[in-house]
Amino acid sequence: MDVTRDRAWETLTRYTKSEALLRHALAVEASTSAYARRFGEDEELWGATALLHDFDYEIHPTLDQHPQDGAPLLREEGYPEEIVEAVLSHAEHLAMPRDTALKRTLFACDELSGFVHACGLVRPTGLDGLEPKSVRKKLKQPSFAAGVHRDEVYRGAEELGVVLDEHIVAVTAALRPIASQLGLRTAASSAA
Ligand SMILES: [Fe+2]
Ligand SMILES: [Fe+2]
Repeated sequence: MDVTRDRAWETLTRYTKSEALLRHALAVEASTSAYARRFGEDEELWGATALLHDFDYEIHPTLDQHPQDGAPLLREEGYPEEIVEAVLSHAEHLAMPRDTALKRTLFACDELSGFVHACGLVRPTGLDGLEPKSVRKKLKQPSFAAGVHRDEVYRGAEELGVVLDEHIVAVTAALRPIASQLGLRTAASSAA
């Protein structure tokens, strides 16, 4: 099969209706694609993997199903094993080795994209002017975006071999162009 963004989006939206989940998929896609560009990898394939990583969450909302019961569905749809394995490996409870750059990147971008998104939502200017320092500070406040696993944020950057601040900058920069799709304000919109 030819893996395209359109195809991945079609699969994702067939299984996922929640706006929050679609926004999460878009955020992780933007971050993962940005790293594909930086590493000289296949941007469309990496982006498609990110779009699909939680595709079954709505139908499999518990860890005894997500994402392992989604994997056979992806195989039936014809997605290559490279994508299926990467999707499986983002789940800590499956304890799969993250032995490819795609797996390490997806894992590193998953929780942090969600966290940076959450930081943007509480700021009048969204992601504009958001500094790594304030993201790090919020990471230390357990009550803020409590659903984001801090240990996975730290471990993700470490496994990817990127300093946390640099990773925060990369993810923030990746999300900025799609701020409106993520429901975020911008400096321009707050001045208006
Ligand atoms: Fe997930
Ligand atoms: Fe996710």
